Amino acid sequence: MFLEYRAGDIGTYRMDYSNPHRQLEEPKREIAVVDEALGALHTAGILPHTKYDRGKMLAHRRGVAETFEMPWTAITPRMQRLLYAINAIARPATMIAAGVFCGNTFISNGGAAVGPGACYAAENLIGIEIKPDEAARAERNVRGIDPTGVARVVAADAVDFVAEFPAPVDLLYLDADGDARRGKGIYLDILLGCLDRMPPGAVVLAHNSVNAAARLQHYLAFVRDPAHFRASVNVILDVEGLEVSAK
Ligand SMILES: C[S@@+](CC[C@H](N)C(=O)[O-])C[C@H]1O[C@@H](n2cnc3c(N)ncnc32)[C@H](O)[C@@H]1O
Repeated sequence: MFLEYRAGDIGTYRMDYSNPHRQLEEPKREIAVVDEALGALHTAGILPHTKYDRGKMLAHRRGVAETFEMPWTAITPRMQRLLYAINAIARPATMIAAGVFCGNTFISNGGAAVGPGACYAAENLIGIEIKPDEAARAERNVRGIDPTGVARVVAADAVDFVAEFPAPVDLLYLDADGDARRGKGIYLDILLGCLDRMPPGAVVLAHNSVNAAARLQHYLAFVRDPAHFRASVNVILDVEGLEVSAK
């Protein structure tokens, strides 16, 4: 089953990538849009419910704003809230994020289990970044918010890392922009590396389902095929978008 959730105002909801902590709208509006998106994911059978601790989400947001060195990010406040909420609700024991740059996307997912916004205990939260200097910065950022080491960043090619990862993967977040040949099309290569180790109910999140839809054509066709995934929803709450699929 493939569905779409679309906020009515994505034409005017815009962020400045170099000023990611700026408030873009009234908190009430941000919460309402994300609640609608979570409702669509619940209706599709992807999430068991839509409840998450909004105070903890704000504590997570503050922690990141205070500690992260972040040259830029395309993760809007709506997307940050959505990623946090999906993880807070799905509670993956193992979460892998592929292509984490400075770590913001990784911690938007992992912040539901570590740091000031933690609301459950995870076993493995792994961010993978192919550029060693970016991986080192992401690891420094993540250490600042999670001294426990449950969340960690590995400098590696996500395709190889995920294929060799020995344990079940409960949530996979895809954001790697690949090489010149594949671009974001690399998402499908990463997913296929661990699909057989994703248990029923496992969730895959693919960033840029809207603005990279052309490069993601094969990926989107794959996850929207009921032979592969039980349900898939294109969540369009900003111009980037997030495809959310459940096994
Ligand atoms: C453009 S960034 C994602 C930024 C994120 N959307 C944000 O707004 O903060 C994509 C990252 O994927 C990394 N990357 C590209 N190919 C990769 C691969 N095969 N494995 C791991 N990381 C990869 C790049 O080095 C880059 O840092």
